[in-house]
Order: sequence, then C-alpha cells, then structure tokens
Amino acid sequence: MEQPYRLELRNVSKSFGEVQSLRNVDLRVGMNEVVGLLGDNGAGKSTLIKIITGYHQPDSGEIIFAGQKVDNLTVAKARALGVETVYQERALADQQTLWRNIFMGREITGRFGFLNTKQIRAETERLMRGELGFTSSAVSASSEIVGFSGGEKQGVAIVRALYFQAELIILDEPTMGLALSETRKLLNFVRDIKRAGKSAIFIDHNVFHVFDVADRIVLLDRGAVAGEFRKDELTLDQLLEKMHHVAETGSLD
Ligand SMILES: Nc1ncnc2c1ncn2[C@@H]1O[C@H](COP(=O)(O)OP(=O)(O)OP(=O)(O)O)[C@@H](O)[C@H]1O
Ligand SMILES: [Mg+2]
Repeated sequence: MEQPYRLELRNVSKSFGEVQSLRNVDLRVGMNEVVGLLGDNGAGKSTLIKIITGYHQPDSGEIIFAGQKVDNLTVAKARALGVETVYQERALADQQTLWRNIFMGREITGRFGFLNTKQIRAETERLMRGELGFTSSAVSASSEIVGFSGGEKQGVAIVRALYFQAELIILDEPTMGLALSETRKLLNFVRDIKRAGKSAIFIDHNVFHVFDVADRIVLLDRGAVAGEFRKDELTLDQLLEKMHHVAETGSLD
C-alpha cells in the first residue's frame, strides 16, 4: 500500500468576514518532505499555517494527518500529532535560560519520564555542542536566551522540536531579519529536519531560500494554489518566470 502523506489538506477554505483568505486549497506534505510555500503578502500563507496548527478552524474542507482525517483540530491536538511551529519572534522566551527554553513545560512528559535539573542541564549541553554546533565557551545551558542571535534562537527552536519528536515543523518567514551567515545556518537546520526523516513547511519571501531547501514548491496566489512543482522538475529561472506569470495573470496558463 502507498504510504500516506504526513499531512493532507483537501479543499480547504477560510474567510474572515468579507475577505476570503483561502479558496479550495489542496496541499500535501510527504512523510519526509520539505514543502516550500511561496506567495505575495496576503496570499494566505500564514492563514494556511494557522489552520494546520489548529489555531484557526477552516470553514470547509478536510485535514488528514498520516491518513487519518482529523475533525475539529485544536492547537493541542495538532501538537499531539507532532506539529511544531518555529516563529522568528516568538521562538523562545528571552528571559529564560537555554535549558528552560528547551525543556519548558515538558520536563515530565519527555520520553525519559521525569528528569532532574542536573540531567536536563547535561542533556542541554550535549544538544548544544552536538546538534546545534555551539562552540563558544561563553554559552552554557544556564545562559539566558536574550544574548542569542536570531539565527541561534531558531536553531534552538528547531533542535528542540526534533528532540521532542516533531513530525512536521513549520517555519513561517524564519529568515526575516537574519544576517547572511545566520540565514545559511538556518537553512542548514531546515536540512537537518529532512535528514532526521521528518517533514517541514517552509515559508519565505526569498525564492532563493525556498528553492535551496524545498523538495517541492507550492505557489499561493490570492488564497488559491496557483501552481505546484517538484524542485527537480524545474530550474530556479523557470520558477521565477512562473511566479512572474502568476503575479501578472493569477494563473499558470
Ligand atoms: N484574523 C484575521 N482577520 C481578518 N482578516 C485576516 C485575518 N488573518 C488574515 N486575514 C486576511 O487574510 C488574507 C491572507 O492573510 P495571511 O496573513 O494569511 O497572508 P500571508 O500570505 O501570510 O501574507 P504575508 O506574506 O504578508 O505574511 C489577508 O487579506 C489578511 O488581511
Ligand atoms: Mg504571513
């Protein structure tokens, strides 16, 4: 039997009053796939993400996780299904230490049962040196997050999500405001998600970033899917051309 998708949306629509943010959207994310979502301001990208994370309920349509249709998806349900979101701004709690940020709210629910503070710190050190590649001796498990750069914060958030067995990590504009070197690191973390055998939805206004890390690219235009491509099907130039065409005519035809 064919493997089901990690996530499938069928015919999803959502309006806010007069504004129809999403129109009959179909979206599939494979079990080990990075899907890049591209679209202009107001195309509906964040609305789509908020539906997947259970923050908004769609007006119509179906949401299917690993082949199972889920009714009345809530934030708690989405999280239990392995959905984690990494936002630039709200990735971490600045005034807290690194170890608290990684284990916050999960001390007793991790796959290890209850860990004491000493074990949590040791585990945090291991994650930082190993997974995050932190080499600075100035940073320890007890460092406050406030001194971290934007890219480092997102790295922590992604490693945390992978550590707690997220199946689908959603990144909404993660490179916004990052320096070039930080962006490069962030894109590497997205590749780590893929290497860990998990899935991601990656939203970015920068088509180069999306083309770099995505296996498949979905173009959203005014709330509808205007096109969908496997990355190995087209070149970056061809993608740019299609995006221009969609922006001008609203469709690929
Ligand atoms: N809570 C809301 N109430 C009313 N309108 C909303 C709400 N959320 C989104 N919208 C509208 O839905 C449309 C899509 O917005 P959305 O934030 O999903 O776009 P986006 O693709 O994420 O844009 P951006 O690239 O600017 O982040 C916009 O017209 C927006 O004003
Ligand atoms: Mg948005």
